[in-house]
Amino acid sequence: MEIIASREEMISIAREVQRGGRTIGFVPTMGALHEGHLSLMREARALCDVLVVSIFVNPTQFGPAEDFEKYPRDLNSDAALLTSENVDYLFAPTVADIYPAGFSTYVTVEGLSEQLEGASRQGHFRGVATVVAILLNTVRPDVAFFGQKDAQQAAVLKRMVRDLAFDTKVVVLPIVREESGLAFSSRNAYLTEEQKRAATVLHRGLSQAKSAYENGERDGEHLIALVRATVAAEPLTRVDYVSLNDAETLEPLAQIAERPALLSLAVYLGKTRLIDNMLLGQAEKQDAARAWQ
Ligand code: PAJ
Repeated sequence: MEIIASREEMISIAREVQRGGRTIGFVPTMGALHEGHLSLMREARALCDVLVVSIFVNPTQFGPAEDFEKYPRDLNSDAALLTSENVDYLFAPTVADIYPAGFSTYVTVEGLSEQLEGASRQGHFRGVATVVAILLNTVRPDVAFFGQKDAQQAAVLKRMVRDLAFDTKVVVLPIVREESGLAFSSRNAYLTEEQKRAATVLHRGLSQAKSAYENGERDGEHLIALVRATVAAEPLTRVDYVSLNDAETLEPLAQIAERPALLSLAVYLGKTRLIDNMLLGQAEKQDAARAWQ
């Protein structure tokens, strides 16, 4: 695996690969890699000729009171993991390289960025869309892989890629969970053992609502109340939001009809904020190969 630190160098490698007629698969990350990240890389490895992973803790997507400074960073152990996953290039730029002096251009995806995570984290998706636009222009991938764990992020980025005519297919892959049901997240590192046990209630709450949905429940308020009641029974949690939305437009749903719905939540355990979600009325795993063609 080669480690690339500059935008210029990454662009010239991408050009070279494309001139040779080979396809590029890309997995953008902020590092502190776990099984969720690795699942994206394995799918990308299987589908594309050349696999590029980026590690960049992106300052513009963190609010002033958020954890940018203390976000877990361990480039050496991440690089070792990436080598064992047969990654070809690790793109690990500096903040100054991504945001040169005088940087003043931002991408805003209107209509999908303001609700849910956007309501609790002002400016978050502007930062995400901007950095992913820069990364796509630098790595020039045929396919970019994202996780359903960050469902709103995936919806925002799909829309950006379509609206701004990026020549990249977006593939979204299912949430990878620990045996306990807890979704893998770099932020799980902040949890004490006790909080980690308590955090399994997010998945239990969502699963109960999913069973109710499968038994015919279609009412948004009822489904949300079910999740809230389960999560509230765990005293270490504090709910930020539980919401039912159209999976693509993210409009709030009072009732589930034909279109797939997204049931999502954000919950605090102490100071740590965790998110999780489930799709209702749609298979979790799209066929990535088919989605690409
Ligand atoms: P990060 O949180 O490091 O996540 C990188 C990718 O891994 C995202 O697409 C995320 O949805 C996916 N992912 C995280 N946990 C997962 C899990 N348990 N199962 C499946 N996929 C999972 O998301 C970001 O970084 C950043 O916002 C980024 C897109 C890199 C832009 O800075």
